[in-house]
Amino acid sequence: MILVIDFGSQFTQLVARRVRELSIYSEIVPFKNATERIEELKRQNILSGIVFSGGPHSVYENNSPKIDLDLEKIGVPVLGVCYGLQLINYMLGGKVAPSKNREYGFEKIIVEKNISSLNPLFKIKDIEENIVWMSHGDEIQELSSKLTVDSVTRNNVISSFHHKELPIFGVQFHPEVEHSKYGREIIKQFVEEICQDKKEWDSSLQIERAVELIKNQVEKEGKDTQVICALSGGVDSCVAAVLTQKAVGDKLLCLFINNGLLRKNEYEDVLARFKKDLNLNVKGVDASELFLSRLKGVSDPETKRKIIGNTFIDVFESETKDLPNAKFLVQGTLYPDVIESISIHGTSVTIKTHHNVGGLPEKMKFKLIEPLRELFKDEVRRLGAEMGIPQDMLARHPFPGPGLGIRVLGEVTKERLQIAREADAIFIEELKKQNLYNTTWQAFVVLLPVSSVGVMGDGRTYESVAAIRCVSATDGMTADWSKLPYEFLAHVSSRIINEVKGINRVVYDISTKPPATIEWE
Ligand code: XMP
Repeated sequence: MILVIDFGSQFTQLVARRVRELSIYSEIVPFKNATERIEELKRQNILSGIVFSGGPHSVYENNSPKIDLDLEKIGVPVLGVCYGLQLINYMLGGKVAPSKNREYGFEKIIVEKNISSLNPLFKIKDIEENIVWMSHGDEIQELSSKLTVDSVTRNNVISSFHHKELPIFGVQFHPEVEHSKYGREIIKQFVEEICQDKKEWDSSLQIERAVELIKNQVEKEGKDTQVICALSGGVDSCVAAVLTQKAVGDKLLCLFINNGLLRKNEYEDVLARFKKDLNLNVKGVDASELFLSRLKGVSDPETKRKIIGNTFIDVFESETKDLPNAKFLVQGTLYPDVIESISIHGTSVTIKTHHNVGGLPEKMKFKLIEPLRELFKDEVRRLGAEMGIPQDMLARHPFPGPGLGIRVLGEVTKERLQIAREADAIFIEELKKQNLYNTTWQAFVVLLPVSSVGVMGDGRTYESVAAIRCVSATDGMTADWSKLPYEFLAHVSSRIINEVKGINRVVYDISTKPPATIEWE
């Protein structure tokens, strides 16, 4: 088993995921609990290697995250990534300082001759052509005398090293992100060759483990305990519900709340499918009027998210107040929601509060069951398929908890929701017709709080602008705009302008994430 010690990087979970892709179990532990966990795993004789993650801090700061252990006595191989590399150097007596040239994005690193024979981490064909993804503001100023340099960047910054006697390695770049050309191979070398870990982890084990965890969590509260699941209509809550059903059977009651912010016909269609195709015990609750009344006059995105999150919980509480044994709430929170919402271990930086995490009021009476909290979307889809959920339900594009509430920019009114809904339905219908839906990560229409002048027939119009957003991504952490054919875009634009009253202009969003995000709010 590979233990990933989290120092607050946005990519920590990606490291664990890359290890899982090799069918090897990996666990993440916050740096504060690392020493204890290492001892425990060593006692159980199941620890085969450790990765120190990256992180937003500087090792030379007084209160930066550190761990209290003797690296050279740890007894298993260690790989430090970015901040992890700097920390290893620091722990072994070297010095780290702010970089003269900050290196963000693609970098070509210059590796030592015969690197593959010097360092098993780089025993990879054509490794000399190594293009990597960098994101660091500090660099090694003085290398510990116990370490040897393996590569440098064009600015002559040390970009990897190994220990002269022990299996301790460091890379300044991020092998876990897609953009590092040999990243996957480097992690494979570490896990398989250096740590010699065995392949015995797969999605059926993952299901077994998740089911077991839920069962234990619920049983602890007594045998009559009921579990409520908040179905959103999307893949995540659906997979979380089916997993929970496996664990607790008919103790699970699902609620599908219409918050008035769903897409066209979504409430009726999805409710029917949950019952018919998944055999879930589900109750539909139409609370759209309540949500819309609370959103009246509000335009700030974070305030809208909080209102939607709080209203959602209020509706839940009122629906379950007569169920005294209902103690748990299942949510389909994924890893990217967690990392972008909150500072999990007090070390990473908040980007956006996603409503199913950051907006939950602390007074909430339910305990949370979040079985997908460590996973990425594509892993969740695989898990769902393994449990027999129909493909078309699993292939649905991600849809944010606050729904059209954050796609109708500015104030959300019934009229503007209706306009956004109609335009969105046209776009999605056309994507499906042209077989483009399944090849894109997410596609939707955003209604802008901007009016523009147009001409229809002989008359002047002054109506809203709609933006079309369509992106490709593998995990939602980064995304590129989809290069949809011009003819297709022209057709969609023309249909929207002709068929949706209230829109007289359509624009296509060509921004990548980062620096933009997928949603506009
Ligand atoms: P961003 O906009 O942060 O989105 O690039 C990344 C992914 O998360 C979804 N998203 C949300 N999901 N509540 C959710 O449940 C939210 O408030 C929220 N905001 C964004 C987004 O649709 C994309 O798939």
